[in-house]
Amino acid sequence: MAKATGTALVTGGNRGIGLEVCRQLGRLGMRVLLTARDIAEGSKATAALRAEGLDVSFEPLDVASQESIGNLADRLGRQGVRLAALVNNAGIAMEGFDANVAERTLAVNFLGAMHVTERLLPLMEEHGRLVMVSSGAGELEGLAASIRQRIDPPPPKEELVAFLRTFIDEVRGGQYAAKGWPGSAYRVSKLGLNALTRLLAEELRARHLLVNAVCPGWVKTRMGGSQAPRGVEEGADTIVWAATLPPDGPSGGFFRNRRAIPW
Ligand SMILES: NC(=O)c1ccc[n+]([C@@H]2O[C@H](COP(=O)([O-])OP(=O)(O)OC[C@H]3O[C@@H](n4cnc5c(N)ncnc54)[C@H](OP(=O)(O)O)[C@@H]3O)[C@@H](O)[C@H]2O)c1
Repeated sequence: MAKATGTALVTGGNRGIGLEVCRQLGRLGMRVLLTARDIAEGSKATAALRAEGLDVSFEPLDVASQESIGNLADRLGRQGVRLAALVNNAGIAMEGFDANVAERTLAVNFLGAMHVTERLLPLMEEHGRLVMVSSGAGELEGLAASIRQRIDPPPPKEELVAFLRTFIDEVRGGQYAAKGWPGSAYRVSKLGLNALTRLLAEELRARHLLVNAVCPGWVKTRMGGSQAPRGVEEGADTIVWAATLPPDGPSGGFFRNRRAIPW
């Protein structure tokens, strides 16, 4: 890959795919803001990448906390930071399935990425790239028509958020399956993230921002487990590619192995 310039911010950068994305962006020549919710873990990961000679700094960020997001945005704003790339990588896949799991999963994987993006957008450069780390679990294929018709094409953002909130209520009330929702909070969160990606790509076209979702494949991390066929290098590759696209690169797409795949 060609050299890249400017500053990139990565969420959930302390381990797994996010850490490797920070490393690869740093190797390409970018200044990297590695963010993590755990200060000790984030500082340790940052120190390791700096020891590799990379230009990496740590910033605390819990994507499920609007206060934490606001503090980060204010701090970076005061420093005059401009972002060439924002990678919404932080994610969770919880054990079990109930309304609490549904709420927490949406709070991190969907709302977290949405709130981080909204607050950091004013800091993004023209032609900046926004990358949503999604999953094959977010594909529309196999989804019940009753749900698909509500998110494909995506409705306005407020309506999308309200619709996804009904999932939590319907899990709590036990009607989610009858309504056509999948029995996986992770799947619903990534369906929402993909719909959000499509909306943002349209919204930000006039600002020339490139907004894409990426499926990293099944990757050996704490989330992916030890049986996964891919290492983090391969898992990070398409994310890094999307975070360093040239100004005339694609926007509004879903990519795996650097190739467009259907929503
Ligand atoms: N591994 C796979 O096979 C696979 C497949 C498809 C998609 N993905 C996606 O790839 C992304 C990275 O996953 P991974 O495999 O690298 O998982 P991972 O090893 O479990 O890492 C998840 C990262 O997200 C962070 N995180 C979780 N909640 C957070 C919060 N509230 N605020 C900030 N950071 C938070 C974690 O921080 P802590 O250390 O503090 O928990 C950790 O850094 C996720 O979006 C995931 O859905 C992974």
